[in-house]
Amino acid sequence: MSSSSYKIALALSLMAAPLLCALAAGGDQHRPVLTRLAKDPSTSLYTASVGNGGPGPQLVLDLAGSLVWTTCMPPYRLIPCGGSVCAVASRSRRPNCEYTPGDNNGHGGHCACSTTAYNPANGQCGYGELTTVQLSANATDGRSPLFQVSLSAVASCAPPSVMGSLPSGAAGVAGLSRAPLSLPLQVAGRMKVEKKFALCLPAAGEDGAAIFGGGPFWLQAAPPQQVSDRLRYTALLKNPKNTAYYIGVTGVAVNNVQVPLPPGALSLSARQGTGGVALSTATPYTALRSDIYRPVRDAFAEATSGFARAPATKPFDLCYQKSALPSTRIGLYTASIDLTLAGGQNWTIVGSSAVVEVSQDAACLAFVDMGTTATPAVDHSPAVIIGGHQMEDNLVVFDLEKWQFGYSGLLLGTMTRCGNFDFSMGSH
Ligand SMILES: *[C@@H]1O[C@H](CO)[C@@H](O)[C@H](O)[C@H]1NC(C)=O
Ligand SMILES: *[C@@H]1O[C@H](CO)[C@@H](O)[C@H](O)[C@H]1NC(C)=O
Repeated sequence: MSSSSYKIALALSLMAAPLLCALAAGGDQHRPVLTRLAKDPSTSLYTASVGNGGPGPQLVLDLAGSLVWTTCMPPYRLIPCGGSVCAVASRSRRPNCEYTPGDNNGHGGHCACSTTAYNPANGQCGYGELTTVQLSANATDGRSPLFQVSLSAVASCAPPSVMGSLPSGAAGVAGLSRAPLSLPLQVAGRMKVEKKFALCLPAAGEDGAAIFGGGPFWLQAAPPQQVSDRLRYTALLKNPKNTAYYIGVTGVAVNNVQVPLPPGALSLSARQGTGGVALSTATPYTALRSDIYRPVRDAFAEATSGFARAPATKPFDLCYQKSALPSTRIGLYTASIDLTLAGGQNWTIVGSSAVVEVSQDAACLAFVDMGTTATPAVDHSPAVIIGGHQMEDNLVVFDLEKWQFGYSGLLLGTMTRCGNFDFSMGSH
């Protein structure tokens, strides 16, 4: 071999090496990532399985949360104070969070980055050191799991004091907000997938699914349905004061009759960050500020005056005898609630999304007065927090590439549900 052709061959092999690595990793990358979701019956919180096979650790989903936090078993890898990751994490530090000194002094004089972990279920927060954790999930084509993938994510080690009010199997919280260290943005960065995620929140006792990274979303039915085709979109709004997701709602109607609301009742004040309509998976039932709740409840009561009432059951105050309500394929039928979105389309809340069965004999309007809930899961006093019950058995998509929110409406109407995702490996 002449020396020049040797040099060319060497140059080619040097070029090929990174290419081959990229191909080898290509199996794991650019594929959306699937996790299994469950609803905890006692707290009504939703969890995602992110552990190695089996039931594994569960993280509570918090749409408004800014980072991933979890209990850590020492020793764990620390992230230094000075670096860029620490600077980003510090931006989502909560004010008024009491500093509880950890064992920060034992690190041989190195400064370890710490940030605040916030529990959306009870409003508690505490300082935890930043570390990297290994999460496992499956790559997916939107129909079923394809092969297992693992990814490392930056997480805060939660002090035990913030673990209260979480489901007993939960090891922490997965923040899903637009903050840079949220789970969807970390997955997008690591796996080179779209900044987009889909949630299909299940009823208790069923397995729902979340897909991070875009792509289609299929549910089993006869025949199987690509439910992502049914999405309608509205703009996602940013509140400059927090990282939660907001949508523009211009009015509320019950059985197609407009509910009289105070002018501007639903609008988000960009200057103060108050008002507006936020979404939260850590709020079990949609919570309305009292000046909105009362007229909506009254309109609903009027529209359903023909159905026999049952005594109010906290936190609900409009309840019916179940036997009086027509039972349909979309659940017990009472009245429909339209949220008219910016752009004129409606998110219609109906059937099992509008009511909740509280006992064998009674079902109640599944909306609550925000004034009576202790700690709203979204800061800065939104006017409305759309809660988990109203998103359950719907496909909802948060598209951070296009800043859009996609919603399917209640899936039961087309004979499927979030519990119908096909979790059998490579089943087609
Ligand atoms: C991947 O999918 C298979 C089949 O459903 C499941 O058994 C396994 O637990 C999943 N792995 C992870 C990490 O979720
Ligand atoms: C949305 O709902 C309102 C009130 O029910 C209704 O008047 C309006 O026609 C609906 N808009 C569309 C696009 O269906």
